Amino acid sequence: MRLAPEQESVLNGESGSSLALAMKTLVAYGQAFGAERLVPIESAHLAGSFGVSVYKAYYKIIDQLVNEGAKVKVPTTINPRPGNDLNLVNRAVFSAQKRFESQMKALGVTPNYSCVCYEGANVPEFGQRLAWAESSAVQFANSALGARTNRNSVLVDLCSAVTGLTPEFGYLLDENRRGKIRVKLRIDRMDASALGYVIGQKAVDRVPVIEHYEFSRVELKNMGGAMAAAGGVALFHVEGLTPEAPDMKTVFEAEPEETITVAQEDLDALRARKPERAGMVVFGCPQMTYDETVVIAERIASKKVKLPTWLCVVPEAKKRFEETELCQRVRAAGAEVFGHCPVAALTLRLWGKRVLTSSGKCFYYLDGSDYGTVDDCLSAAGALS
Ligand code: F3S
Repeated sequence: MRLAPEQESVLNGESGSSLALAMKTLVAYGQAFGAERLVPIESAHLAGSFGVSVYKAYYKIIDQLVNEGAKVKVPTTINPRPGNDLNLVNRAVFSAQKRFESQMKALGVTPNYSCVCYEGANVPEFGQRLAWAESSAVQFANSALGARTNRNSVLVDLCSAVTGLTPEFGYLLDENRRGKIRVKLRIDRMDASALGYVIGQKAVDRVPVIEHYEFSRVELKNMGGAMAAAGGVALFHVEGLTPEAPDMKTVFEAEPEETITVAQEDLDALRARKPERAGMVVFGCPQMTYDETVVIAERIASKKVKLPTWLCVVPEAKKRFEETELCQRVRAAGAEVFGHCPVAALTLRLWGKRVLTSSGKCFYYLDGSDYGTVDDCLSAAGALS
């Protein structure tokens, strides 16, 4: 890999030993993937946001950066809190949360604590290079916004944040952003989250191109989150909708490797056969935007839920929503408005309660959960009119 003189100097320790370590990590990461250089980034997004008590080496490395006065070089946001304040078990498992958050503050990380950073705290522009972790955010930045980032890991994301650099390979390069699989739709009732799940399993890590459908921004978010979890997809296109796919000819360099059809039966097959066995209901993973929350809340507000029901919301949107009368009504109906990551929180909390969720990502990650459409979930919660 060719390094610029100022990069060489950081690598040689002239800016401190911890920044040298960050640079060494990025060089090794780049070499492993055949990158020829490090390129500047416009922003970073960190995935390692859960203050798990046993991640001792992680905090030690961050301490080194803090003690040497390192600061993030580009705007840097961070994933949700884990629900560390919910109960005794969560408090014990995530007991490093406070320490971790003060480390992030010292480094200059924006305390947005959301995986949906692109809705306000960290909004990339078309073509910008980024170094983001968090698969759902990577997916949205690449696919819906046309920015360029690989699926980076925890700590590699931090190395990029404090150096302002990332190795140039993968989705930063034009040739890897072309479509590989064509996806035809035979669907009567769109459920974008389920569709993302099915495509993720079929595409694995290839770039799918979905035939034209007018997905909303929220549908792109939820479809992408599911696709990035059920598969390793970091970029998808929708013909005539997403910025790099004005038409099929442009987005495919050559003929598609494969054409698949996703039918209504594929989406229906994901749905729980026995939704009545649900012990709780979860909406929002990736976290819900303000508008998305209002849509669900309006359907719950005049009812009484019969199961614990969580609306997991971007913290900024939660703050705004909590000022509304609708929020009071939804809480009076028995639902909880929650600003943390439901997957982290539920991995430890309420074991024994079977989760029913309309999130394909939550369904994939949360062992023993069931998937349902929004209506399935509202029905199980006793809030379907
Ligand atoms: Fe976000 Fe947690 Fe889901 S980080 S995408 S709410 S698993």
